Amino acid sequence: MPSDPRTVSKRLDYYLQQIQADARTFIGFPAATDFIYDELRPFFGYLLNNIGDPYKAPLHTNHSKYFEQEVITFFADLFRAPVDDRWGYVTNGGTESNLYALYVARELYPTARVYYSSAAHYSHPKNIHLLNMEYSTVRARTDGEMDYTDLRRTVAQYKDRPAIVVATIGTTMTEARDNVTSIKKALQQAGVARSFIHSDGALAGAYAPYLEPHWPFDFADGADSVSISGHKFIGCPMASGVIIIRKSHRDRVMRSGVYTGSWDTTISGSRNGHTPLMLWYAIQRWGNAGFKQRALDGIRLAAYTTAKLQEVGWKAWRHPYALTVVMAAPSAQLVTKWQLATHEGWSHVICMPGVTKERIDDFIADVAAYVPHTKPVRL
Ligand SMILES: Cc1ncc(COP(=O)(O)O)c(C=O)c1O
Repeated sequence: MPSDPRTVSKRLDYYLQQIQADARTFIGFPAATDFIYDELRPFFGYLLNNIGDPYKAPLHTNHSKYFEQEVITFFADLFRAPVDDRWGYVTNGGTESNLYALYVARELYPTARVYYSSAAHYSHPKNIHLLNMEYSTVRARTDGEMDYTDLRRTVAQYKDRPAIVVATIGTTMTEARDNVTSIKKALQQAGVARSFIHSDGALAGAYAPYLEPHWPFDFADGADSVSISGHKFIGCPMASGVIIIRKSHRDRVMRSGVYTGSWDTTISGSRNGHTPLMLWYAIQRWGNAGFKQRALDGIRLAAYTTAKLQEVGWKAWRHPYALTVVMAAPSAQLVTKWQLATHEGWSHVICMPGVTKERIDDFIADVAAYVPHTKPVRL
């Protein structure tokens, strides 16, 4: 029996109110919220399925692959991928993008060993397990960046095998960036002849190209693939990601002749057709100048937040280029209220586009009220 429509409406109203209220204290997770996608509303009346390869239209016509191709071109340009050897697709998120990079790297070098730092995202050990690959974890410095001496030493133990290295461009807790030039140097010193470097830029890859001085992480710097999240800095309201990789590498995992009419080159067969449309729309709205300004605004707000926390006597620091403010974890009550990701006694505030100075001031007032009474708790 269908549900009573009044009960359904009531439930949805309540859920919406809850979401709207929680949005006012959303400062602890890296998702931009300054978006307006109203113009795309009519497309939600249709199924859009980008099945298979973005560069081969399927037999059905309700897809957004032509928009997806423009999204790929935008990010391939941003990450300086070779014009005659580039490919990519819009994924379901950072984890799928990372899985794709490792999958292709393994096809390229079946005997390779994977290296990632202890500050890298938890999706890497999961993906490595799925792909049944061998790996070593490399030490991360206390500020979150990879320890390249430890990378050199670790890789040197397996120097006869190709090395697949994950460089994190914006670690989850401190927004540290691994340096692809330093990674290449460590591999060379270790005596490794064949390597594949994946830059996991889920958090900071989308805005790193706009910041000075240039940070080495893209194709021109020596990366073989670069990934970002769509729902973080770009501000797509649905989980999504982008993977950019050399087309010649993609060719190793391609299967054609499937009944869909497209080529089977992606992890998922059926793929979300709405997220490429939203990413395309965000690119039209902001362009390079707009994305750069949003990043600079976030950095300015992060600097303000750090200074204010220190002013009220709270332990806080940040990397000079970062939107992330690392702070001693406040009380469990504040962690819950302000939705702060917290690990080993540290929390972070992320000044993504959409976080306002007013919201930060409210947060600082909460922290300041708490300072004189108790010490930070270790969660
Ligand atoms: C550096 C990094 N890599 C990968 C991911 C995984 O992304 P997703 O949750 O979209 O799968 C994240 C998510 O926070 C991340 O910060």
